[in-house]
Amino acid sequence: MAPLLALLALLQLGPASHCPNPGISVGTMRTGSSFDLGDKVSYRCSSTNLVLTGSVERECLSNGVWSGSEPICRQPYSYDFPEDVASALGTSFTHLLGATNPIQKRTENLGRKIQIQRSGHLNLYLLLDASQSVSEKDFNIFKESAFLMVDRIFSFEIKVSVAIITFASRPKIIMSVLNERSQNVMEVMDSLDSVCYKDHENATGTNTYEALNSVYLMMNNQMDRLGMETSAWQEIRHAIILLTDGKSNMGGSPKPAVDNIREILGISRNRNDYLDIYAIGVGKLDVDWKELNELGSKKDGERHAFILQDAKAVQQVFEHILDVSKLTDTICGVGNMSVNASDQERTPWQVTFKPKSKETCQGSLISDQWVLTAAHCFHDAQMEDRHLWRVIVGDPTSHHGKEFHVEEVLVAPGFNVHAKQSQGISEFYADDIALLKLSQRVKMSSHARPICLPCTVGANMALRRSPGSTCKDHETELLSQQKVPAHFVALNGNRMNINLRTGPERTSCIEAVSQNKGSFPGLTNVSEVVTDQFLCSGMEGDDSPCKGESGGAVFLERRYRFFQVGLVSWGLFDPCHGSSNKNLRRKPPHGVVPRDFHISLFRLQPWLRQHLDGVLDFLPL
Ligand SMILES: *[C@@H]1O[C@H](CO)[C@@H](O)[C@H](O)[C@H]1NC(C)=O
Ligand SMILES: *[C@@H]1O[C@H](CO)[C@@H](O)[C@H](O)[C@H]1NC(C)=O
Ligand SMILES: *[C@@H]1O[C@H](CO)[C@@H](O)[C@H](O)[C@H]1NC(C)=O
Ligand SMILES: *[C@@H]1O[C@H](CO)[C@@H](O)[C@H](O)[C@H]1NC(C)=O
Ligand SMILES: [Mg+2]
Repeated sequence: MAPLLALLALLQLGPASHCPNPGISVGTMRTGSSFDLGDKVSYRCSSTNLVLTGSVERECLSNGVWSGSEPICRQPYSYDFPEDVASALGTSFTHLLGATNPIQKRTENLGRKIQIQRSGHLNLYLLLDASQSVSEKDFNIFKESAFLMVDRIFSFEIKVSVAIITFASRPKIIMSVLNERSQNVMEVMDSLDSVCYKDHENATGTNTYEALNSVYLMMNNQMDRLGMETSAWQEIRHAIILLTDGKSNMGGSPKPAVDNIREILGISRNRNDYLDIYAIGVGKLDVDWKELNELGSKKDGERHAFILQDAKAVQQVFEHILDVSKLTDTICGVGNMSVNASDQERTPWQVTFKPKSKETCQGSLISDQWVLTAAHCFHDAQMEDRHLWRVIVGDPTSHHGKEFHVEEVLVAPGFNVHAKQSQGISEFYADDIALLKLSQRVKMSSHARPICLPCTVGANMALRRSPGSTCKDHETELLSQQKVPAHFVALNGNRMNINLRTGPERTSCIEAVSQNKGSFPGLTNVSEVVTDQFLCSGMEGDDSPCKGESGGAVFLERRYRFFQVGLVSWGLFDPCHGSSNKNLRRKPPHGVVPRDFHISLFRLQPWLRQHLDGVLDFLPL
């Protein structure tokens, strides 16, 4: 990457032009080398075997940006892999140049992906091609992809309506945005469940124009109902996702329908982000790449047409299509589910601090000002030095995060590591829990957000449960399997995997403590050490936390949201012991049985409720 950047920087040395050099990506050829206002450049592929995605012609606009989107030439039938898509959606040549060109100020509201935000309303239209050129098998992949997108879009608790339309020679409206039920995830899922390839068995052509026109008519009806001049209508954002092979063979060009849609929504430069159209081919289809490209929106630095292998790939691409930068309230447990997201984006609640000179501790944001961590982090710490402590919280503008001072430390009074020394228990970790109040509120972003604490109203909404649910219901929902897959975050930011054991599995998990004669000589009753406050992991295949990872969240995922069920407390084996490289974790040597114990937040409810009253809303026990 470095030499490329240097080269691009050199290109900037000539007299400043109104738009940055739009670049020439691999496989394309450009005509036009003047970049002033109103200048046009055009592109074609360097080989006739390649097809062009993006805009054939681009114009330098008054805001210093090129119209349309960057052209890329590709093999007609090659798949997009999620990792390539990530780079295609993330940095493009224009972006790199934009960042180094001092005269180009990128305007904030330049049509950027599907915006997830509190204000306004989102209409998502899912169009599934059921024509003959798409096999029933491919159609079922479309259906599965649609399920994943619906489930994900509803996970943000935003105001959203989802329309479902299948089409061949004619469109069939399965769910309309005019129907109240389109705002309810269960109803939308049920209607999606009912879509059927055979519905179109007697008219198997491909009329993409009619399909898009049905969206236009739906919009028209909604506008009539709400009133053209009302903000209720004008503040709706619209995203259309076509799952298709392109290959339209009836109804003529789909373009007039798209033009009508743009017109009714008043899409102009300052309303560019009110409409996005994506065209996605999924499965073993023979896709008409040119048509897919024509259907998709053309926006600077964005791609709107993809050919993907399976529903999982659609899910990954969808993750990148969503833009959460405007989701600035304290919604809990929202992490980025893309394999290509940064560690902090994936676990934005994760924080690090250093209350003692040697070891770090970790913690989790549970609101915009409070951090949950372990009490033993403060054992031997100089409390009077706490004005020197810094909590490192994720920040989108810095790799190193942002530092916060600590205003208040609350350590559970029951915590006393020496409490059972007289019984031969050298260290005892009951009540290993503490809260830190930061001196300032954290600004919510894709890199800093609280995790959901079970038994709170926020977690209840994230679990999509009825308002009457209780803390016990949450425990049942989150911890009822004998072996619950969960995670913690390593010092290097990696997400590690564990399995929490319950019931008889827990009994055998904690049993290992009695074999550890070194730490617990003469122990006859394991529950004396591992009280019912502890969750147990560390059996075969599990990762073990290192010493410096104490206090970090033990969390699990449900419905695309994250819930903290425990916090890292103590264990029988430290995989980082004796190593200064935080990327190096040892395997346990022969004869050492690893086991890890995590404070269960379900058992510490009284203490949490006492101190977080007014910070979080708790459900009845
Ligand atoms: C995305 O993640 C994959 C591993 O899952 C990796 O091989 C690839 O390089 C990543 N791509 C980008 C653009 O970060
Ligand atoms: C297709 O046509 C057949 C024969 O007319 C009819 O029985 C069937 O119900 C039709 N299918 C649909 C989905 O309309
Ligand atoms: C996930 O991260 C990628 C890469 O930073 C970003 O483009 C995308 O918008 C994010 N999506 C969500 C849902 O946070
Ligand atoms: C083991 O210890 C726990 C906790 O102190 C106690 O509740 C339990 O009755 C003990 N069990 C036996 C068999 O002594
Ligand atoms: Mg077809």
